Amino acid sequence: MKKITVIGAGNVGATCANVIAHKDLCREVVMLDIKEGMAEGKALDIWQTSSINHFSTRVTGATNDYLKTKGSGIVVITSGLPRKPGMSRDDLIKTNAGIVAEAVERVIRYSPEAIIIIVTNPLDVMTYAAYKAARKDSRKVFGMAGILDTGRYKAFIANALNVSPKDIQTMLLGGHGDTMVPLPRYTSISGIPVTELLNKEEIDKIVDRTRKGGGELVNLMGTSAWYAPGAAAAQMVEAIVDDQRRVFPVCALLKSEYGQKDIYMGVPVILGANGIEEIIELKLNKDEMKMLTESANSVKASMKELDAMNLFSE
Ligand code: NAI
Ligand code: 2OP
Repeated sequence: MKKITVIGAGNVGATCANVIAHKDLCREVVMLDIKEGMAEGKALDIWQTSSINHFSTRVTGATNDYLKTKGSGIVVITSGLPRKPGMSRDDLIKTNAGIVAEAVERVIRYSPEAIIIIVTNPLDVMTYAAYKAARKDSRKVFGMAGILDTGRYKAFIANALNVSPKDIQTMLLGGHGDTMVPLPRYTSISGIPVTELLNKEEIDKIVDRTRKGGGELVNLMGTSAWYAPGAAAAQMVEAIVDDQRRVFPVCALLKSEYGQKDIYMGVPVILGANGIEEIIELKLNKDEMKMLTESANSVKASMKELDAMNLFSE
């Protein structure tokens, strides 16, 4: 691929661009930020690792100059504000939706065919905002959260069993937040069901820690995570660039799947050159479906809040 753009050169954006460059996924990766010189500086720093880490992808930066993003095949959006003390949830939705929508509108002027991956929080509703702003096929506008959340879940299982995380397979559904639905019934270690290796209490503890995984890191660092989020977004980019048809949990627009309509949330998809090639519908049991419906209701409430703000003309 010729060019990939990452909007927002903060912790997650710069990490994502760094991983994309290390994997040599394209000829050029462009980072764009509004902070004067920030994207250019980080790009230069990453580019100066190219001879050390042996990659050829050019890394460049831009301060609010979307012309430099022209001709991108994929755009990852990480720009946004973190929630500050005293800031209401509504304020955060409104501010970040404005930032995300503006980025989408400006970037697609120069790259109308680009596939857009949203990372900015609150993830599910920001992906919906991006879709409204992009006015394009929802298979080309989707969000990253599930790869991060399953990454955490797998890391905790690997610790509990003292095995390699490489051998753990799993799936996770729902919104990116406390209501997410990790699926022990779809979790195995090289084909061995996790339920044969860990008892219910141990699994419940891991599920709970996964749901609170973002908060755990905020408590430790005073800000949210970036290594795993950046790597997770880059893994989605890789699946698209190489048309890998990987099966990942992705925040996708549901049109009837899982009994949900017109809502963005995490579901298993096949990710390839065209973006979301297919949404996979699992046969959930009663408890799993109940948890998913609760998660969907919480996402819907945020989407309703966004709709009520009337930020987008029909
Ligand atoms: P950060 O604060 O380090 O970086 C955000 C960057 O966006 C800053 O450099 C800022 O200058 C830039 N920015 C703000 N407004 C902009 C605009 N209009 N145009 C271009 N750039 C703009 O934050 P961090 O840690 O990189 O997180 C980024 C976002 O990703 C946050 O919303 C965070 O909550 C979210 N996140 C999402 C995850 C997920 O699983 N989906 C995981 C981790 C973070
Ligand atoms: C995370 O899960 C806060 O969404 C961010 O780390």
